[in-house]
Amino acid sequence: MYWLAAFLVLSVANGAYAQATAQSSVAPELRECYMDPNLVNRNNLPPTTMPVLIDIIRKIENNPNITLDLRMLSTQLLHTYRQDGIEYHQRSTNVAASSIVLPFAPTFHSFHRHRLLLRIIPSNQQVLPNNTLPSSLKCALHNMISTTVDARTRGDESTCGSLSQYRALRTVRSPRSRRSIDDDVEILDLKQLSEQKNGHMMQNEGDSDVEYAEDVSSRQLLGDSACPILTGVVNTRWGAVSAGNLIAGIAAGSESQQVPILELTKGSVLNYQNVQPTITTVYPATLSGDLAEAVLVQGTAGRTTISVGNAGNWNSSQATRFYMLSGRTNIEMTDPEIRGALDGFFLGTSLPDTLRTFGSLKLSQLLDMYYTPLNGVFNTNLRACNRRELSQQLVVTNNLVGETRAFTAALDTVLPLAGTLTGGIEGLVDNSITNLQNYINNNLNDINCMLTTSARLDTRLRTNLYIVLDGSWQYQAVYPAISHIVESIDVGHFGSSITLLSASDGSVLINQTFSPADFHTEYTQQRHLTFPTGVNLQTSFANIRMMMQNQLRNETTMNYVGGNSTVLLFLLSAGNIENNANVLAEHRLLTEGVPDLMLLFATALNQLENLSNLVREPVNDITTISLTTGGTNVVTTMTPVVVGIQNVGRRIINPLCGADFVASSSGTRVLTQYVDPGYINYYRISPNYFYDSNGNTRVRVSRTGGVGDLVICHSRAIAVPRQNETFASVETDAVTCQTLGGTGNVELNLQNACGGFGTIRACPPWFFSVEAPAITTNPTATCTDGTQCRFPYDVAYEIEIQDLQCFSSGTNVAASFAILLFGIVINMLRIL
Ligand SMILES: *[C@@H]1O[C@H](CO)[C@@H](O)[C@H](O)[C@H]1NC(C)=O
Ligand SMILES: *[C@@H]1O[C@H](CO)[C@@H](O)[C@H](O)[C@H]1NC(C)=O
Ligand SMILES: *[C@@H]1O[C@H](CO)[C@@H](O)[C@H](O)[C@H]1NC(C)=O
Ligand SMILES: *[C@@H]1O[C@H](CO)[C@@H](O)[C@H](O)[C@H]1NC(C)=O
Ligand SMILES: *[C@@H]1O[C@H](CO)[C@@H](O)[C@H](O)[C@H]1NC(C)=O
Ligand SMILES: *[C@@H]1O[C@H](CO)[C@@H](O)[C@H](O)[C@H]1NC(C)=O
Ligand SMILES: *[C@@H]1O[C@H](CO)[C@@H](O)[C@H](O)[C@H]1NC(C)=O
Ligand SMILES: *[C@@H]1O[C@H](CO)[C@@H](O)[C@H](O)[C@H]1NC(C)=O
Repeated sequence: MYWLAAFLVLSVANGAYAQATAQSSVAPELRECYMDPNLVNRNNLPPTTMPVLIDIIRKIENNPNITLDLRMLSTQLLHTYRQDGIEYHQRSTNVAASSIVLPFAPTFHSFHRHRLLLRIIPSNQQVLPNNTLPSSLKCALHNMISTTVDARTRGDESTCGSLSQYRALRTVRSPRSRRSIDDDVEILDLKQLSEQKNGHMMQNEGDSDVEYAEDVSSRQLLGDSACPILTGVVNTRWGAVSAGNLIAGIAAGSESQQVPILELTKGSVLNYQNVQPTITTVYPATLSGDLAEAVLVQGTAGRTTISVGNAGNWNSSQATRFYMLSGRTNIEMTDPEIRGALDGFFLGTSLPDTLRTFGSLKLSQLLDMYYTPLNGVFNTNLRACNRRELSQQLVVTNNLVGETRAFTAALDTVLPLAGTLTGGIEGLVDNSITNLQNYINNNLNDINCMLTTSARLDTRLRTNLYIVLDGSWQYQAVYPAISHIVESIDVGHFGSSITLLSASDGSVLINQTFSPADFHTEYTQQRHLTFPTGVNLQTSFANIRMMMQNQLRNETTMNYVGGNSTVLLFLLSAGNIENNANVLAEHRLLTEGVPDLMLLFATALNQLENLSNLVREPVNDITTISLTTGGTNVVTTMTPVVVGIQNVGRRIINPLCGADFVASSSGTRVLTQYVDPGYINYYRISPNYFYDSNGNTRVRVSRTGGVGDLVICHSRAIAVPRQNETFASVETDAVTCQTLGGTGNVELNLQNACGGFGTIRACPPWFFSVEAPAITTNPTATCTDGTQCRFPYDVAYEIEIQDLQCFSSGTNVAASFAILLFGIVINMLRIL
């Protein structure tokens, strides 16, 4: 009765909020997602991937108008943006399209479970305001968490896998007579409650018994895609996941309660009496919800074995947007729904522990920690890669059986079905659970933790990447490659940024962004078609230099000591790129004026010889990439490019140098950085900051938070120095490492670091790294400021620079003058 009491209090305190997503029409604020052609076409929306979902959730968390904790936010997401089961309804060909009719409505079976769920996970708040997210992100989020199947024929069915499976289309359901679909889900008003307390069973007043046989049959006529699209699916490295189940599990776990079944069915007479009287919220939100759907839909179709699991795939390997099922039958508990249900169940049931460890954990962090290769949610076992083992450890069969039987009985009172089950529900439920367990153990072959750990990239990138793009690329060929880069370099709030520049003149095509969702929203095919074509390296270099030098001046204003790296990547499709003396001269001005800039080229035709004078190491820095439309070979072909970007260390600079490199000492300045256990950060100091350094030029690393030792390595020859690596062709003492405990610091002395090198250009940079060795114990929350660190278990450390200088490798007057001023006349000839 606790649940009932809580509801009563809420109803009294706040009044009842209408929940548009529970009503049997498309919620008003979601309608534009089905009306505006730009939003209807999902190719214009960001791809449905976990980093994009996390990014959108983080935007809501960072919205100053919204102050919701993890519990409230996950609930509000369900109430505001989730509306399952929205389907297209074909009009007869002889009926003209009506401007007052939207041919979409929530009629698929998943909707009915969703409505029950909104009662199980109530909200005492108004839904999030319509201006919380821009329309494109609102629709993307809606699509990512709302489960439905779009069975319309698209025309691309010949490419979507084996057709044999679904030829025998079976009508899996048609409406059972006189099932109410319009009962008002959200509101338990006081009158109703008191009547129920009196043992009075009554239906809600607004009820109307709507039959929609025609809608269903028209949909079935239409529904002949060999591989229907399953919506509400988010791609992760550990398989496609129904994010609605995931968020629902978290929301349910955050307010775990026992709900009386009769409360849920609003007094409808249960078809099956012999079930436990209450259900625990997390079950219907996750596993029991999908199992009950499968039992009821397949059971009323006359099956005696309940089939769970329906594989499918994305129709692209990059920028995934369309998840296509491999068949049309038994689609009540598809693979993504199984994964989402499991993940939601694990995160939901462990949430009390999680929040005990760290009470102000954000939803974005929870997802980020679970869908990441190492460390997990304050428990190294609680990771997506461990899904199968977790299902064996955490899902107690007896509990699942009891909960699923009970929820099946409840769902049966609201779900329109093609028949009436008059008995045998226990056997069907038991069968579905056995089949689910077998399916999880034998068929969900997602990458496991051992492989995940060994294959992971163990550095977190903070790269400001500028892609200089030739508009003559075909969008279908270059977009998958760029999407792959965006994901590989971790474009995100705590990671890298991306900017698109034009290869014809270096102008900005797409502004710098740290948001993958925003980037994908901007970089559409339509936008690409407006990009200038052609390559002019001379003009591009000149304009890019001016932009970057402005940035260096900005960095002086901001007192920026470093922490990000900068990479300029040319993606060129044309051959025979004009490279002459003027280009070389501009190139020299660029590299000398912006010393930390890393230049990489990736070209459709081999330009190794023609461009080799523009990079440091031609063989590594110039790549030939063969991109095809559809992006099937993207990962392989882009690997050298991605590795090139990943190997550029974060800059450490003297902010006073600006763009002019007028000599001045940095004095002592401090930069705070974070590293995850099991990860390593690489840094790079340009000789322009220590070429002729005095005896005080040094860098110190000291720990300021977190647990465990840090390992600090440095090298002059290896850009990514680390412990216990063997570097062929380099002397073994190329890397020096020191271990830093809880106190003290590691000091890197840069005095005379360019001794013996005649020019700044000849003197190699100073490379160093900070590594937090992997932990074997469960991580705790040590970084509690979620605006600073990505994960609460991050190890914080400080990099202190002392007396970095400014030396211009350029030939400009200001630099020479500065050097004169500093009385380093002797060195003039060496420097210039
Ligand atoms: C929500 O906002 C969008 C874009 O501003 C607008 O077009 C739409 O009409 C709004 N919907 C409602 C229900 O206010
Ligand atoms: C916050 O609310 C105000 C007033 O409604 C609005 O003008 C502003 O744009 C909102 N800010 C954000 C970030 O949505
Ligand atoms: C995937 O399928 C959708 C829907 O048919 C289509 O719009 C999109 O272009 C396809 N994507 C790829 C990469 O083939
Ligand atoms: C460096 O990266 C962080 C996020 O990774 C970002 O917040 C910051 O603005 C970046 N700084 C610069 C100067 O690009
Ligand atoms: C970049 O941002 C600026 C200011 O925010 C804006 O004026 C400009 O139009 C944007 N450029 C592009 C290409 O989006
Ligand atoms: C430099 O800062 C100014 C003002 O903050 C800003 O308008 C400009 O875009 C910045 N320039 C660069 C290249 O970041
Ligand atoms: C690069 O190719 C262009 C066009 O074919 C040619 O004019 C130029 O001389 C080449 N440059 C180099 C450095 O080979
Ligand atoms: C790395 O090298 C150090 C010192 O040589 C050694 O103590 C340590 O066990 C090595 N670690 C691994 C993983 O090989």
